[in-house]
Parts: sequence; structure tokens; C-alpha cells
Amino acid sequence: MTRARTATGSIFDELADAYAATRPGYPEQILLDIERILGRPLSGADVVDVGAGTGIATRLLRQRGARVLAVEPGPEMLARLLAATPGLPAVRGDGEALPLRTGTVDLVCYAQAWHWVDVPVAAGEAARVLRGGGALAVWWNDVDASDARWWQRQQDRLERMSPGYRRDYRTRPYADELRWTGHFEEVVTLTGRWQRRIAIDDYLTWQRSKSYVAAIGDDLEDYLAAERHSVLRAFPDGIVIEPFRTLLVVARLPGRPESLE
Ligand SMILES: C[S@@+](CC[C@H](N)C(=O)[O-])C[C@H]1O[C@@H](n2cnc3c(N)ncnc32)[C@H](O)[C@@H]1O
Repeated sequence: MTRARTATGSIFDELADAYAATRPGYPEQILLDIERILGRPLSGADVVDVGAGTGIATRLLRQRGARVLAVEPGPEMLARLLAATPGLPAVRGDGEALPLRTGTVDLVCYAQAWHWVDVPVAAGEAARVLRGGGALAVWWNDVDASDARWWQRQQDRLERMSPGYRRDYRTRPYADELRWTGHFEEVVTLTGRWQRRIAIDDYLTWQRSKSYVAAIGDDLEDYLAAERHSVLRAFPDGIVIEPFRTLLVVARLPGRPESLE
């Protein structure tokens, strides 16, 4: 797969404005599920949010009382994170070489970012920085509209126009990949569903924030014009209803969470 890191940061840096404006948040249920599997509340937990981007997940974790460090390779993404939440502990860094001491955190999170790392390397790093009983939690929001014509038309268009794009990239066996690393005692997969309503112009900005849409290059405006036309056929009032499926995979190290010892 293409790497997100560049010599100066991340391919997401050029997308940072579109990203900050329109990326969806995550349902609270994800954090409740993590607490249940971790066996402790997030309040007071030491958490690292890797690939933190503009800080969407970092802020949710903070709101639940976690002590969060954001780690992100892209300087522009980090700048948006700090502009939205001044003073938030954040550092430039990479999930494959975490800037943290061994055995110092309760939870390592990757929100919409785990597909960018080399799994054996990043899982090894997560296992290194976690305390006994701690967990690695990775999750995604995927638009789940496979039975809708507008979504099928979009995916056909992407497969034609975005080099290397395949709609089935969402079906990797993430839980098995984590089991195969041998670091974890338990790996749990959970899914959920939710939807949002988004105005067509914002919807197109959200499209622009995706790395595989940006990869269309010179034909990007043609792609967006075709999208506008096609999506408005399905939603003539200009309000797009986007159904999402969340996928959460939590991999727990052997041992007991520190707060319970
Ligand atoms: C789709 S964004 C997700 C951002 C944020 N977590 C969110 O929920 O909106 C993916 C992020 O992963 C970061 N990323 C890419 N490769 C990475 C790596 N090797 N280590 C850490 N982060 C990485 C990108 O810079 C980008 O900010």
C-alpha cells in the first residue's frame, strides 16, 4: 500500500483544512466498549492517540477523562489539532517508532489510522509502550451504503480514476493480523451503525479530504462534478444521508490493568 508519510510529514497535510472542516466524529459507544474490554474507566488512564490527525479522537478521549498524548507525523495536521485545542500534549512521531518509554501507557489508540502502518512493527511498538493488561484499540468509520446506487456509482468512479483504489480495501482481517503478531492475550472485534446528514457542499469537501480522492490528481474536479450530479439524483434536497459502519478491534496484553492491582 502507499505510505502516508512523506519526507516532510504526511500526505494528509495538504488535506488538513478539508479534513478539519468535515470529517465525522465517532460514536461514544466505541469508548464505552474500550472501557469494558480494558476493564477500567478511561478517566485517569494514560492514553496515546497515534495518527491523531486534527484531534477528533484525541478530544473524545480527553472528554472521558483520559490523560492523552497525541502522536502525529504530519505538521499541518498537528497544527490544526493544536489550533482547535491549544495546550493539548502533542508530538510529531510515527506509530512504527513511538516516542514513549516502555510500559508507560494503558491504551494505544489508532482512529482511522491503523491501515497506514506496518502491522507487525506498529503492534510491537504498541505492546512495548503498554503496561500489563493494557490494550491497543484501532477503529474506523466506513460509509456503509453498498446497497445504494449513488455509492456504487462513486466506487466505480474511484476504481477507474484513483490509481490502485479498490473498494474491498475495507475488508482486511485486522483482528487476525493482530492475533498473528503473538503479542496479545485477547483480540475482540465489534461493529456498530450510525448515520449523519451532511449538506452537499460539505459532503464534497469531505470527499476532498480522502487520500484516495486526492490521488485522482488532474481529474479531481471532473470526479467531484460527477459526484455532485450523481449524489443529487439520490438526495434532491441537497442533504446527503450517509450511513456509517464503525469497526472497532481491541487487542489486550496479558496482565491486569494497573488501577486494579
Ligand atoms: C485518516 S487520518 C485519521 C486522523 C484522526 N485519527 C481521526 O480520527 O480523524 C490518518 C492519520 O494517520 C496519520 N499517519 C499516517 N501514517 C502514520 C504512521 N506511520 N504513524 C502514525 N500516524 C500515521 C496521518 O498523518 C493522518 O493524520
